[in-house]
Amino acid sequence: MTELLNATEPGIARATQLLQEGALVAFPTETVYGLGGDARSDIAVARIFAAKGRPRFNPLIVHVADLDSARAVAVFDDRAERVASAFWPGPLTLVLPLRPSARLSPLVTADLPSVAVRVPAHPVAQALLRAFGGPLAAPSANPSGKVSPTRAEHVMAGLSGRIAAVVDGGACAVGVESTILGLTDGPALLRPGGIPAEALEECLGQRLETGGDAGRPNAPGQLASHYAPAAPVRRDVAAPGPGAFWLGFGPEALAADLNLSPTGDLVEAAANLFHYLREADARATGPICVSPIPDRGLGRAINDRLRRAAAPRPPA
Ligand code: TXA
Ligand code: MG
Repeated sequence: MTELLNATEPGIARATQLLQEGALVAFPTETVYGLGGDARSDIAVARIFAAKGRPRFNPLIVHVADLDSARAVAVFDDRAERVASAFWPGPLTLVLPLRPSARLSPLVTADLPSVAVRVPAHPVAQALLRAFGGPLAAPSANPSGKVSPTRAEHVMAGLSGRIAAVVDGGACAVGVESTILGLTDGPALLRPGGIPAEALEECLGQRLETGGDAGRPNAPGQLASHYAPAAPVRRDVAAPGPGAFWLGFGPEALAADLNLSPTGDLVEAAANLFHYLREADARATGPICVSPIPDRGLGRAINDRLRRAAAPRPPA
């Protein structure tokens, strides 16, 4: 049962408690409703992907209450400081270098060295972020491939029974997602949205790159720029031979060097995936062999990531 909470003090307190337990709470922002989970918790972030039915681990936007909290997760240069002071709080997301001490779940950034961060203006989002006191990962609160929700009823229609609660803050004023500005190198418009590109160009005194090409390292999720293990990765190996590092899944793989989920729980496996790939890479002396992962629910996103880890590498 998904709780429908009022945007009052008790409602915010209940939402905060649920978030602290690693549960998911949808909340209003000025753009669209976000599906919030603790950005530092692997299991909470894995649950976001599961609830949305996302077939891949796209990086998510990290929401924080103010510029100081944003500086704790990302590295700000002069350009970032300038646009943040001009447009925050508001419908602008900045993609910046990830601060190593940020301690975000690697699922939030899809293990990229950058992070998307935003300070929403909506008073309910602000109240929730302040009460929670930490960063919230929040994609739009709709099932993957469906229209973004701008009312609590839309969230309920799409996700009821799949998330812990929705805070009802009425209709969203902007109605389209935030503009995403990439600042990991030349300023780039990664997604048009609530702040016009012209306003950003005016503020930066510079034109924005647009149209991103697939080879560009700061473009999102789906790209080859992703961390890939140094060791070769082989998928669908039920019983690896000697010399291989066995990354197992499920009760058939209790003898594995590491097991993504001994009980065969796909949400747990997703929560462990990036950590275990790194650990496997550090410990492997031969190939990393991964047990078969069922291609349903979060298994699809896990398999998508593993396929890319196992794909032929571009020349260094
Ligand atoms: O208005 C909004 O921004 C809404 C509300 C809820 O705040 N949120 C939203 O979040 O749209 P989400 O997580 O669905 O947006 C993710 C977008 C994707 O297009 C993703 O590729 C991009 O942000 N993104 C996230 N991290 C990135 C990164 N490190 N580099 C490039 N793009 C990134
Ligand atoms: Mg969306």
